[in-house]
Amino acid sequence: VYCSPPTAVANVSQYACQRRTTTENHNKIFTDVMEELAESSEFNESKGPCLAFRRAASVLKSLPSAVHCLEAIQGLPCLGEHTKAVMEEILTFGRSFKVEEIRCDERYQALKLFTSVFGVGPKTAEKWYRRGLRSLKEILTEPNIQLNRMQRAGFLYYSDISKAVSKAEAKALGCIIEETVHWIAPDAILALTGGFRRGKEYGHDVDFLLTMPEMGKEEGLLLHVIDRLRDQGILLYCEYQGSTFDVSKLPSWRFEDMDHFQKCFLILRLEQGQVEGERGLQSDPGDSRGWRAVRVDLVAPPVDRYAFALLGWTGSRQFGRDLRTFAYKERQMLLDNHALYDKTKKLFLPATTEEDIFAHLGLEYVEPWQRNA
Ligand code: CTP
Ligand code: MN
Ligand code: MN
Ligand code: MN
Repeated sequence: VYCSPPTAVANVSQYACQRRTTTENHNKIFTDVMEELAESSEFNESKGPCLAFRRAASVLKSLPSAVHCLEAIQGLPCLGEHTKAVMEEILTFGRSFKVEEIRCDERYQALKLFTSVFGVGPKTAEKWYRRGLRSLKEILTEPNIQLNRMQRAGFLYYSDISKAVSKAEAKALGCIIEETVHWIAPDAILALTGGFRRGKEYGHDVDFLLTMPEMGKEEGLLLHVIDRLRDQGILLYCEYQGSTFDVSKLPSWRFEDMDHFQKCFLILRLEQGQVEGERGLQSDPGDSRGWRAVRVDLVAPPVDRYAFALLGWTGSRQFGRDLRTFAYKERQMLLDNHALYDKTKKLFLPATTEEDIFAHLGLEYVEPWQRNA
C-alpha cells in the first residue's frame, strides 16, 4: 500500500483558523466515528476527551486526501494515542469495535434520541433517561413530564425538523426572509450565515444575520419581522430573546458563552411550491400536504458589531472555537461574537469586515467555504 511520506502532512496547524477546510471530506470513515465518540463523551460529561475527538476529526477533515496508513498521519497535530488506536482499528478491520459498542449502548441511544428533539439538551435527556424513559412515545405519554414551550414545538414538528434542510430550501427561505425584511426596512442589511454560507449542501436549520446601516435602528427590526412572518401565516413557532449586549464588557474568551445580541429561534412553514426544483412536482401521495416545517435562526447585532457576529455565526463551531483560542493564546486578545480586545494594548479593535478581524489577529484570510473545520 502506498503511504504518503510524513512530509506531505507537515505544517498542519493545531488551530482550525490556520487550516483551509472545504466541505469535501476525504476522511469521512474516520471523522464520522470520531464525532460519535465525541458525542458519547459529551453525554458522559467527559469534556476533555470530547474536545480531543472533535479536534482530531477537524484535523483529518482538512487533509487533501484520504489517509491509508498510520505513517501518513505522523507529525499531525491533535491526534492522540486514543485517536490513533481508533484509526488503526478502522484501517485494519474497516470498522471500529469501540464505536460499535457505543452505538449498541442503551444510554447512548436514548440520549441521542432525546437530544434530537428541538429544545432538549443533554441535561434534560439525562433526567428522562434516569426516570427509565427510552422512547419519544414514552415521554409524550408519561403523565409527570412537564415540557416547556420549545420542547412542545420540538415534538409537534419532530419529523419535519429532524429532516435535513436542502440548499434549495435554504434559498427559498432566504427569498422569504429577504422580502419580509425589505418590506419593513428597504435599507436593512441581510446575510445568510451558518453552514449554508460555508457552502454545505444540507443543514439542520437556516441562519441569518440582519442589521440596519444606522446604529440603533436595528432595535425594533426583529420584532417587526416576526410580526410580519406571523401575518403571512408562516410562523409556526418563535422564541425571541431581547438584547443583553453591554458595550463596556470585555469579550468572553470562553466559547460556551452565548452572545447577547437580539435574536430569535423560529420554526417556519415552507411551501413546497416555493422551492426551486420542486415547483409543480407531483409529491408522493403519502406526503401530500405540500409544505414542511423548517428551523430558522435570526440574529440582529448593531451595525458596528456586524463583522464579529458574521464571523461567529458563520462557524463552523470548531473554526470559531479555535479562532478564539488562537486569539487568546497566541495574540493575548479576547475575541467573541461582539468584539475583539487587545489585552496588551488595552484596546478594543474595531472591524467592519471579517477580513479586518483576520488582519488584526495576524491571520491569513480564510474564506467562508474554507471554514468547514
Ligand atoms: N452560534 C453562536 N451562538 C449561538 C448559536 C450558534 O455563535 N447562540 C454559532 C455556532 O458556533 C455555529 C454557527 O453559529 O458556528 C451556526 O450554528 P448552527 O446553526 O448550530 O450550526 P451550522 O454550522 O449552521 O450547522 P447546521 O447545518 O447543522 O445548522
Ligand atoms: Mn480534494
Ligand atoms: Mn445552521
Ligand atoms: Mn442555527
